[in-house]
Amino acid sequence: MLVGVGIGPGDAELLTLKAVKILGQSAKVYVPGKLAAKLIKPYAASEILTFPMTYNQETLEKHWEENARIIASQARDKLVSFAVIGDPNFFSTFTHLRRIISKQYPEIAIITVPGVSAITSFAARANTQIDHSFEVTDGSENKSKIVLKAVKPRKIAKELEKEGYNEFIYLENLFAEKEHISTVLPEKGSYFSMILARKP
Ligand SMILES: C[S@@+](CC[C@H](N)C(=O)[O-])C[C@H]1O[C@@H](n2cnc3c(N)ncnc32)[C@H](O)[C@@H]1O
Repeated sequence: MLVGVGIGPGDAELLTLKAVKILGQSAKVYVPGKLAAKLIKPYAASEILTFPMTYNQETLEKHWEENARIIASQARDKLVSFAVIGDPNFFSTFTHLRRIISKQYPEIAIITVPGVSAITSFAARANTQIDHSFEVTDGSENKSKIVLKAVKPRKIAKELEKEGYNEFIYLENLFAEKEHISTVLPEKGSYFSMILARKP
């Protein structure tokens, strides 16, 4: 099994208990650079895999494929972690690895452990608060929207369809008892819910 582990924004005390546990249980831990290796040093030894900083798609694919091969050779019969700065599902090297491993080595189960992301943790350091809608961008086209407090899921989706959104996931009580995740939107939602909307 392969686990993409988020290790937080840069402070070894901002790893979650779950991240520390999984890293400790892993037969092998890979990281995409020195910073991640240093950050997890108190909890696990790691091996650095090289991911070049380039926009050359061919070079990138070559390294992703080679690293996917190295990881897959271990993850077939062992618990293997790939530890990344922040959260492994937000603008992460892990997304590319996951895409290649799922396609070329479908026998390997893949899960992720969320990490404290720069996208939320910056507020603590900037000494600021966000309590209104905001945008996160890396300059690419905006194709996702997260709606908080999704108490009227179907009504929300109907409104979003007018903006071109056509894929919806309703998520309630995440990581807790009575967690409920569905693409079938209920008429009424709970306060502890959100909708992820996507457009093509
Ligand atoms: C490839 S993204 C990785 C994001 C990461 N997966 C996360 O969830 O935080 C890298 C970008 O995230 C931001 N970033 C990540 N960690 C940061 C930190 N400790 N301080 C400031 N910005 C950070 C920077 O904009 C950086 O260029």
